[in-house]
Amino acid sequence: MNQLDPNREQWGSRLGFILAAMGSAVGLGNIWRFSYVTGDNGGAAFLLVYLLCIIAIGIPIIMAEFTIGRKAQSDAVGSFEKIAPGKPWILAGIMGVISAFIILSFYGVIAGWTVKYFFSYLTGGFNVQNDGEYVDVFVGFITSPWEPLFWQFLFMAFTVGIVYAGVKKGIEASNKILMPALALLVIILAGYSLTLGGASEALSFLFTPDWSALADPKVYLAALGQAFFSLSLGMGALITYGSYLSNKEKLPGAAVSVAALDTGFALLAGLMIFPAVFAFGIEPGAGPGLVFITLPGIFDSISFGTIFGLLFFFLLAAAALSSAVSLLEVAVAYFMRKFKWTRKKTALIIGGIIFLIGIPSSLGQGILSDVKIIGGNDILDSMDFIASNILLPLGGLIIALFMGWGWKKTDALKDSDFGESALGNAWIFTLRFIAPIAIFLIFLASTGILKL
Ligand code: PHE
Ligand code: NA
Repeated sequence: MNQLDPNREQWGSRLGFILAAMGSAVGLGNIWRFSYVTGDNGGAAFLLVYLLCIIAIGIPIIMAEFTIGRKAQSDAVGSFEKIAPGKPWILAGIMGVISAFIILSFYGVIAGWTVKYFFSYLTGGFNVQNDGEYVDVFVGFITSPWEPLFWQFLFMAFTVGIVYAGVKKGIEASNKILMPALALLVIILAGYSLTLGGASEALSFLFTPDWSALADPKVYLAALGQAFFSLSLGMGALITYGSYLSNKEKLPGAAVSVAALDTGFALLAGLMIFPAVFAFGIEPGAGPGLVFITLPGIFDSISFGTIFGLLFFFLLAAAALSSAVSLLEVAVAYFMRKFKWTRKKTALIIGGIIFLIGIPSSLGQGILSDVKIIGGNDILDSMDFIASNILLPLGGLIIALFMGWGWKKTDALKDSDFGESALGNAWIFTLRFIAPIAIFLIFLASTGILKL
């Protein structure tokens, strides 16, 4: 099992793997999802719990996924079959493949919206008279039945195209250029947004906790779900990527870099969005449309705004693409092996199915908006809730227990590159106790059984 399969694709370079993992992590989760979930959950108190989730739960489980993937050299399901045949841990892999279908189905919808915004700026931007109208433009677009489906289809076609060609060729290069460009642009826009007059309100919203918010169990579940979603964690995406990895890597450094970059992007996105939200008098809890109604206002008030808008939505769509590729790859790697299909055939079939599954999420904004599934949420938000707040943390819980209890400790320390070290021991302790107990308690609290 230690022998690496010479026929299996591998990353082109050490940088290739880190870039791919970063490309998976950085995406709509950092900008679209992070902003609206932070806004919905009151800001600073949520942010604090979120950061705790990243450090105490996220990073240790990233390490576990990398370790499992590199050791097993197989996909999300196959890795468990190979390392622990006949054991129930494989459930984590199966849930992971299901999560990939669910998440990518609605991810493609939101990514389609960003592609549409890119094209709008490419063709001159939005012609509106006052800021309030950005809501009308946005709502008009997402509630129409056909147009969003067209953009979703286009985005999914690109995603399939890259997975079809082989992930390695497809994304290593683009991540090297486009991700730094997006970082730079978000920094510039954050700097500008802070001058719009909403800075002090935004900073206190983001960094001065209202402690009473911590009495609401919903905040913890939202923070946990956001951490898993943003880190691409709990569904085997990082197992799959780790499986294309050779033995030369040092995993702990890679895990920390991915988490740090992902979190940095989210915080910058917060500094870009919230000052403008307050300056324009938008409701922070406006929901999933938050960035789509806030950003056009920024671009409108800046010189060369159309070019900024065009660049921004292009780079955001590119970031979404490398995340979508990692989602599709989880399912494709599994079905390729399972059915012995070629990569090309699998990418087309699975990508097509996921597009179809996403259609109701798109129509749920308009003609199906009366359909409410979970807690009064529309189809898209319900899909997101099931995958991000339930399946991913549950998958992470199983992965933590598997690595913590299912492996011989000496093997786990060796295979993770920690070796016999204080840090390695702390890692095992976290996987055995801290992460599983924390996830369990958050689940319990949100069912109402455990009172805060
Ligand atoms: N982490 C990605 C983002 O923030 C989304 C994602 C989730 C990708 C799960 C892969 C797996 O946009
Ligand atoms: Na992310």
